[in-house]
Formats: sequence, C-alpha cells, structure tokens
Amino acid sequence: MLDSYNRDINYLRISITDRCNLRCIYCRPMEGVSLTGHDDILRYEEILRVVSRAVTLGFVKVRLTGGEPLVRRGFVEFAADLKKTKGLEDISLTTNGILLEKYAEAIFKAGITRINISLDSMDKDKYAQITRGGNLDDVFRGIAAAEKAGFSPIKINTVIVKGFNDNEVLDFARLALTKPFQVRFIEIMPVSPVNGGLTADFLPNRELLETIGRHFRLTPLAVKKHKTDGPARIFTLPDGRGEIGFIDPVSDHFCATCNRLRLMADGKLRACLLKDEEVDIKAALRQNCSDDELDALIRRAIRLKPERHDLDCTDRHLKKCHRDMSDIGG
Ligand code: GTP
Ligand code: 5AD
Ligand code: SF4
Repeated sequence: MLDSYNRDINYLRISITDRCNLRCIYCRPMEGVSLTGHDDILRYEEILRVVSRAVTLGFVKVRLTGGEPLVRRGFVEFAADLKKTKGLEDISLTTNGILLEKYAEAIFKAGITRINISLDSMDKDKYAQITRGGNLDDVFRGIAAAEKAGFSPIKINTVIVKGFNDNEVLDFARLALTKPFQVRFIEIMPVSPVNGGLTADFLPNRELLETIGRHFRLTPLAVKKHKTDGPARIFTLPDGRGEIGFIDPVSDHFCATCNRLRLMADGKLRACLLKDEEVDIKAALRQNCSDDELDALIRRAIRLKPERHDLDCTDRHLKKCHRDMSDIGG
C-alpha cells in the first residue's frame, strides 16, 4: 500500500517485547522497569492476526525485534507459526546474540533464515561497558551457532560511539575479510533522553569510510544482492568473504525509500522510528474488532507516516521521542 509520499509500505518491524537482557548505553536507560504483564503486551495470537491482515494489505516482509526478542518465552513456536502465514515472503530477526547459542538451530528450523546480530566491540571490557554487563563470549558463541545453523546472510550491527569504539573500525572491517558476514556501521541516533548525553559522540559514517578506504580497497555494490536488503550502503573487499555496510540515518537519511511500519509490544503501530505518531490496535483487538476495522487502523498508521524524520546532523539536539530505542526495536 502506498503512503502519502508514494512509498510502498510493505515491511513490518515487530517488537515482540520491550524486555532485554542487556542495557546498551545508547539504547536503554540504566534503570527502569520494562512493561509489562501479559495483558499489557500483545499475545502471539494477536501479533499473528495483525500480520495476516498486513499481508492482505501488501506487506511481504517482517523483522522480529525487541528489546531482545529471544527473552520472550515461546519465541521459537511463535516463529514457526509466523512462518505459516501465506503471502509472507521474508521473516528476519534482530538480536543481541546473547541467547543465540541456545536457540540458533531451533530458530533456523522454524524458518527464520536471516539474522542481524548487534556487536559494538570485540574487546571484552568495552563490550561489558557499552552493554552494561554483557559477556562478549556469549555473543561470539551465538554468532558461531548462527553460522553453524546455516543463517544467511548474517549481518553484524555495530553502532559507533566516537572516542569509545571507533578505534575498532579496522578490526570490524577485517571481520568481513575472514567471515562471510555483512558488517554494518550504524550512525548513532540521539532519539530519547537515554542517549542524549551521547550526541557529542556522533561520528558520521563518511569518516569511517575514509579510514577503512585508506587500508582496504572498497568497491561499492551497485545492485543489491538480496532483494530484501534494507538501507545499508554495501561495499565489497578484495578476497573478502563478507561485505561492509554503512547505515547513515543521521548524516544521509534514507527516508525517501522508507518502506516500513513498526508494531510495538504494547500494541501501538508506530508510523516512523523517529516520530511519536502511533495508532493503538491493542484496544481494538481486545474489543474483537473485525478484519475491516483492523485493516483501517493499519491504513491509518500508514497515512501517518511523515515524509522524513527531523533529526538534524548539523544541530544534533536531543530528539525527544517518548520511547527509548530498546522499546521500538530500532
Ligand atoms: P535489513 O536491511 O533487512 O537487514 O534490516 P535493517 O538494517 O533495517 O534492520 P536492523 O534491525 O538490523 O537495523 C539496523 C539499524 O538500522 C538500526 O540501528 C536501526 O535502528 C536502523 N534502522 C532500521 N530501520 C530504520 C528506519 O526506518 N529509519 C531509521 N532512521 N533507522 C532505521
Ligand atoms: N542509534 C543507532 N542504532 C541503535 N540501535 C539501538 N539504539 C540505537 C541508536 N540510538 C541499534 C542496535 C541494534 C539495532 C536494532 O538498533 O544496536 O543493532
Ligand atoms: Fe522511515 Fe522514519 Fe526511518 Fe525515515 S526515520 S526511514 S521516515 S521510519
């Protein structure tokens, strides 16, 4: 379905829980409780119903996010049920990898074959610092399990914080030489009070590109390899098994090609990552709304999509979204 700016909205990102087993400094407050009793978050059956209606409106791609999706009980069974949705062409997962060693094989068997794993540092202490307590070895074991299970592509998400992990950029680039991963550098988005303090630590991706370009011959991939590929600009390395990607939501936003809507764990459909316009569908679902009513709410959320976000990279004031990133799922 087309939005007001003629963009085909066909990709639903679903945050199935706002809970997370990490507290990354740019994503989640140091303290604070997560939602949500079972009445506060959508039940799996409700999510499945929304997806099946979204598919009839032209959605073909779903990404499961959180919080951390793998902390929600019953995830694997849910993924298998989601896979049965007729007309849904692609289901992927974004995870921090901590629980992946345990679940990778089962998730793959359930039919999710594309996975994005967050990894901001390959230094044990720094990883613990940026995630406020995470164990790097868990993630490495998770990534290995994902490889063994057969996930393809495996994308590694690295958010760069100036002066903290920018010194690891070449190590991450080397990872794409030796492993068949797409390593993506993501510009930090100052979206809510939790990462307000980090706005001074913003580093535009063009500087990383220059640094990496001085050490490796980067060739831009003119055509996307996978038709489901998102907003990353991709480069290959000579003899590299993997690729390098740059996601520039701040310095060079990709809103003109935006194709997504977000379903939050609390049952709100969010029109844009960086704007607070939302449509409540949980209330309607719990009042046994008809399919037509549900469709109308999805259409309304699509109509609410703005032309673009208004985060300004020359004047990076804190953007006051009422939700933290961990709530929205990126
Ligand atoms: P694929 O391209 O399908 O692999 O997924 P993706 O890159 O869209 O998903 P992922 O969950 O790995 O997100 C990577 C980064 O891109 C995160 O930092 C997200 O917050 C950011 N991102 C994803 N979608 C959007 C979007 O619509 N707008 C903005 N500004 N950033 C986004
Ligand atoms: N800016 C950029 N990326 C972010 N993510 C979480 N918070 C932010 C932020 N403020 C990333 C995570 C994860 C993805 C879903 O979003 O690192 O890889
Ligand atoms: Fe779409 Fe909003 Fe993301 Fe821009 S910031 S790409 S409009 S969701």
